[in-house]
Amino acid sequence: MHILVTGGAGYIGSHTSVVLLEAGHEVIIVDNLSNSKIETIDRIKQITKKELIFYQEDVTDEAAVDAIFSNHSFDGVIHFAGFKAVGESVEFPLKYYYNNTVSTMVLAKYCLKYGVKQFVFSSSATVYGENDVPFVETMELLPTTNPYGETKVISERILTDVAKANRDFAVSLLRYFNPVGAHESGLIGEDPRGIPNNLMPYITKVAKGKLEKLRIFGNDYPTPDGTGVRDYIHVMDLAEGHVAALEKLTPGVHVYNLGTGRGISVLELVKTFEEVNGVKVPYEIVGRRPGDIAESYADVSKAKAELGWTAKRGIREMCRDAWRYECGV
Ligand code: NAD
Ligand code: UFG
Repeated sequence: MHILVTGGAGYIGSHTSVVLLEAGHEVIIVDNLSNSKIETIDRIKQITKKELIFYQEDVTDEAAVDAIFSNHSFDGVIHFAGFKAVGESVEFPLKYYYNNTVSTMVLAKYCLKYGVKQFVFSSSATVYGENDVPFVETMELLPTTNPYGETKVISERILTDVAKANRDFAVSLLRYFNPVGAHESGLIGEDPRGIPNNLMPYITKVAKGKLEKLRIFGNDYPTPDGTGVRDYIHVMDLAEGHVAALEKLTPGVHVYNLGTGRGISVLELVKTFEEVNGVKVPYEIVGRRPGDIAESYADVSKAKAELGWTAKRGIREMCRDAWRYECGV
């Protein structure tokens, strides 16, 4: 298949492009490099020893998107492009609502114009809000605590309505839990600009001595050790989940959780990271971070039953691969 990968120079998009190329698909990436580097495109080629086409364009730019669609005959689109920093979305809501929802509408519009019938969307577990764990796809979505989360809810609705109005349009809404780790080559991974917001990149920078210590946001949650519990998933498992979703896509809307189904606490992750990599991660316990929930983990039975996909890599591999990437950066 010929697949348009938006945001393919980014963290999850680059790993998914590797898996797509290795599965024999043709990959065309469009990315404006607002949160990624051009070198990642070369690294994808280096890992796979395959060629791909890259456009440095913004997917909210209709003329640019129209031109890309007219140059190719796509079988499907995987839409990763978007902004993802929760705190920044509170400070600059319009920037987030605009980029994340307009990009979805523009891509859906040109899919319809050019007869592209398969659309895979990067959603997030954040759409479950404060539902009880484990999160199941059939749950009613509850308010998220920030504009970023709302952009995912809105994009899901937009794509659902487009599919209702166009009966041969096939949409897969993939709700990611907490992607971590890196390709085992250490050539691509997560390299956030500035001080990381997320736990794993913060841990690797502390272990490396680039940051002094980890601040653990709260140890008074109703969890076994009091720290927040999340469903961390290896980014390569997540990437494989996209290819499974794409290859099984049929008309209509399909929602899947992509996680491991297992909750890990902040302290458990820190201890595992130290043990696997033989490094220290100094930390202090501080107050809760506003907007955080106590626990998030997936019911993964639907993806297993319908896509034949389950996460294969465990928390030790996630820690090992995240560290290998940090050491190579
Ligand atoms: P990322 O920032 O590494 O990748 C996103 C890419 O999109 C970047 O390369 C950026 O340059 C590009 N981009 C942004 N706006 C664009 C635009 N208008 N036009 C073209 N390119 C644009 O982020 P990621 O972690 O790889 O996330 C990919 C997707 O998955 C995002 O939609 C994100 O919201 C979603 N998601 C991520 C997580 C996570 O924890 N990483 C969790 C749930 C969902
Ligand atoms: N945490 C710390 N210290 C830090 C960073 C995080 O203790 O420096 C804790 C958090 O309180 C939380 C856990 O580590 O308990 C995970 O936090 P992350 O920021 O790594 O991830 P979140 O679960 O808060 O959010 C992530 C993405 C969101 C996405 C959500 C669900 O950042 O975009 O997963 O997919 F919506």
